[in-house]
Amino acid sequence: MFLTLVVIAAFCVTNALANFTSYEGYKIYEFKAENTTQQETLEILAQNDAYDFFTRPRIFGLPIRVLVAPADQLQFQQTLEAAKIAYTIVNENFGQSVEVERKLNSMYPKQRNAAPGSISFDVYQRYDVIAAYMEELAKRYSSRVKVTSIGDSYEGRQLHAITITNGDGAANKNVILMDAGIHAREWIAPAAALYVIQQLVENYKQNSRLLTSYDWIIVPLLNPDGYEYSHTHERLWRKTRKPVTIICAGTDGNRNFDIHWGKVGASHTACADTFRGQTAFSEPETQALRDLMHSLTGRAKFYLTLHSYGNYLLYPWGYTSALPKNWRDIDDIARAGAAAIKTATGTEYTVGSSTNVLYAAAGGSDDYALGKAQIPISITMELPSAGQQFDPPLSKIEELASETWIGIKAMAENVIEKYKSAIERKKPRKLRFKNVGDTQTCIYS
Ligand code: ARG
Ligand code: ZN
Repeated sequence: MFLTLVVIAAFCVTNALANFTSYEGYKIYEFKAENTTQQETLEILAQNDAYDFFTRPRIFGLPIRVLVAPADQLQFQQTLEAAKIAYTIVNENFGQSVEVERKLNSMYPKQRNAAPGSISFDVYQRYDVIAAYMEELAKRYSSRVKVTSIGDSYEGRQLHAITITNGDGAANKNVILMDAGIHAREWIAPAAALYVIQQLVENYKQNSRLLTSYDWIIVPLLNPDGYEYSHTHERLWRKTRKPVTIICAGTDGNRNFDIHWGKVGASHTACADTFRGQTAFSEPETQALRDLMHSLTGRAKFYLTLHSYGNYLLYPWGYTSALPKNWRDIDDIARAGAAAIKTATGTEYTVGSSTNVLYAAAGGSDDYALGKAQIPISITMELPSAGQQFDPPLSKIEELASETWIGIKAMAENVIEKYKSAIERKKPRKLRFKNVGDTQTCIYS
């Protein structure tokens, strides 16, 4: 009996490993574009799906990192050399790094150091743990926390949204809407969203002012199928998991929104990482977020979507280099976030419209939030990589999440100040008296 179990277990382990994309011998290159000619060479290279451009900033001098498979390395290097682009190899064998990370991430008990009903940031948590944590918060803090499902993923996982209030029962407060994890491989993003949840719920006393006139609604893991797949099969999986053709599955959720859908920066090819989808909103995950946004139109003032990596605070539009009418308002808020982080930890963020500072890419959730769901402040936050692309070391998760929280808090405070909730506007206005000469004049504030 025991032997059978051992054999089955061994089979399962080898089987799971056999299914795991190995990335053995893959290298990560880093270089910078210093002029227009070099930039053009890079734009051409980036069209080639064989090269995985982790970041592709538009601004000269910012580092670009690309993952290249062994068979493509020679040609890749030759192209760079011909264009006189100096590069360094920042990871000689990405496969080995992935293996190390995978072992560490599964070695720890999932809730290490976490008190019951809390969650630890020592590992990248899996879907089940995240879901259980949210359910537990809803039970423990039932007057302030509600967890709902905004839909099911393609593989049937519930897409959880947590609504956090101050429990005063006031309906129709303004809302801050946040999500993370639309891109599966960006593991630090859901971790940061969980940290925000933890701060607002478990550390309520310290943060209650953020909940006086606003409710927060957070979807910490919008693409759970992709996320799980990136843990169990392919570390760099980015898309959803719904099959498209016999060979290729998955749509880029952040190219799937119906706003200038597919116009630019989105692939028509099912196998590509930035596949726009067979139609706009072809994915249950993007449909669910769309419906949530529309249900909050009028109330939601701030939409924040967490991604990684590259230290950017981006805002619409992603489909054109033109700017939205209220770009100054958005820019102010993003800059407040960047400044708060800079002061706290020294980490720098680049702020600007995504087309202008990163690249044009249509069909993003941020564009949709502003352009279609009328959420006036819409920002994409690309968290840091801690020098390791999508794999900040486990020991850095909490540090990065808490730094991110500082920026989010600063942005939220500015939004709350800028857009007063109806309940505040209805507050009886105080009468103040001011002496003007000898007569008392009554002024409203
Ligand atoms: N790195 C993100 C992506 O590629 C940036 C999105 C910015 N927003 C946009 N609408 N293009 O999805
Ligand atoms: Zn992303």
